[in-house]
Amino acid sequence: MTKIKIATTSEVSSEKVLKVSAGGQSVLVAEVGGQYCAIANKCPHMGLPMAKGKYENGVITCPFHGSKFEICTGKNTEWVESFAGIPLPGVAKKVVAMGKSSTDVASFSVTQEGDDLFIDT
Ligand code: FES
Repeated sequence: MTKIKIATTSEVSSEKVLKVSAGGQSVLVAEVGGQYCAIANKCPHMGLPMAKGKYENGVITCPFHGSKFEICTGKNTEWVESFAGIPLPGVAKKVVAMGKSSTDVASFSVTQEGDDLFIDT
């Protein structure tokens, strides 16, 4: 594992995700209840970036098909809910999911040294 600095505490907000590059991968960072959290910026549905998705209360919504992930755990809480922002009925969800079932996104534990934040990749 390699420890990589991803940000300083002043750059990270509880209101929005910060997109950073760490060891060649794109990572999203946010502060939730005083804790710094990070997940891969790569939706497990189709591998698309989630940085432009809606972020609220520690949960990011993938802008492509509405899957939701907790930024502190990577846990998937909703899977393929919409297309282009329009909610999908049950059958259409299965079509858009393309046979893939609910999957968590990779998460990273964030460590803090002074004002600097690190993850292990
Ligand atoms: S690419 Fe994220 S839900 Fe489809």
